Amino acid sequence: MSLLDVRDLTVTYAGGAAAVRGVDLGLEAGQKLGIAGESGCGKSTLALALLRLLPSGTRIGGEILLDGEDVLTMKWGRLRAVRWAGASIVFQGAMHSLNPVHRIGDQIAEPLLLHRKATPAGARRKAGELLEQVGLPAARAADHPHELSGGQRQRVMIAMALACDPMLIVADEPTTALDVMIQAQILRLIEQLVADQDVGLIMISHDLAVLADTCDRLAVMYAGRVVEEGPARQVYEDARHPYARALSAAFPRIGDPASRFAPRGLAGDPPDPSALPAGCTFHPRCPVALESCAVDDQPLRVAGPERRAACVRVAQDAAEEPGGHVPPEEARRTTS
Ligand SMILES: Nc1ncnc2c1ncn2[C@@H]1O[C@H](COP(=O)(O)OP(=O)(O)OP(=O)(O)O)[C@@H](O)[C@H]1O
Ligand code: SF4
Ligand SMILES: [Mg+2]
Repeated sequence: MSLLDVRDLTVTYAGGAAAVRGVDLGLEAGQKLGIAGESGCGKSTLALALLRLLPSGTRIGGEILLDGEDVLTMKWGRLRAVRWAGASIVFQGAMHSLNPVHRIGDQIAEPLLLHRKATPAGARRKAGELLEQVGLPAARAADHPHELSGGQRQRVMIAMALACDPMLIVADEPTTALDVMIQAQILRLIEQLVADQDVGLIMISHDLAVLADTCDRLAVMYAGRVVEEGPARQVYEDARHPYARALSAAFPRIGDPASRFAPRGLAGDPPDPSALPAGCTFHPRCPVALESCAVDDQPLRVAGPERRAACVRVAQDAAEEPGGHVPPEEARRTTS
């Protein structure tokens, strides 16, 4: 059984924004999955849906099986137990989400006490241990958030996420606001913790290069859908979907001075999730669109070993290969 199995997840906000539209994802224990995509493509919505943290009035469909249990149908008591202890989130903008009037040790200890995982004295001790685990002296537990740098605060957020030994950590843009040196330290720290504790990691970023460096697999989202998914390096270096290719080309490559001086971008803006274009939602911006793309939507389909992409051109390539027919169920799933 997979640690996480997301099936046909849809999220529509009360105002009608279809932020997530039929996402299938899977993750094994100890595996790191990166989710990339432009601003507004639904990354944070997907992360919040995993723990039912979306505002009331939001419509959610599909299944989110965490260790075999559907998060979407859990009773509130069970859901409260699963948050932090089953899965925890390092929120986007985490540096501002610590409570300024409480000492950081108390904030790390809070989930331990809420989940009755420790006595007050035990929780204080564990908070000190967690701080040391993320590279801060235990004595910093007595500090308030304003006494820490941005990178140190981000370490505290990671310590909080680890407090109840979750099976899954979702990190939403954990390093976006940090300078490159601290960003590299935090990424190595997350990698180390995942390897040591065999937890699953979902890391969200608009930065494909960071994800390709950190994660085993990579899913690229566009307008609420996963449009490409596969081994992280392969998706970054040889994307099959035109949007994933454009996103990847937007990052300069180390050792390739030409790309440094001429990183390529993508014209236009992502579509409004309340008024999505018909057909393939990427067609108004796609440099290789066919006439049929304005009408026909494309499901994810096999695009190579362990790879999927949602593009008619991938379908054409697959059909031209010997034995290239793709069964519909196989095409629908992204990760197994
Ligand atoms: N609470 C909300 N109510 C209504 N619409 C929302 C809400 N939160 C997000 N949206 C919309 O849903 C879409 C997806 O937003 P989301 O925050 O998931 O994007 P994102 O990929 O995380 O972007 P970013 O990279 O900027 O963080 C956007 O169009 C956004 O405007
Ligand atoms: S389906 Fe058509 S519009 Fe969409 S990405 Fe492929 S070629 Fe471009
Ligand atoms: Mg976001």
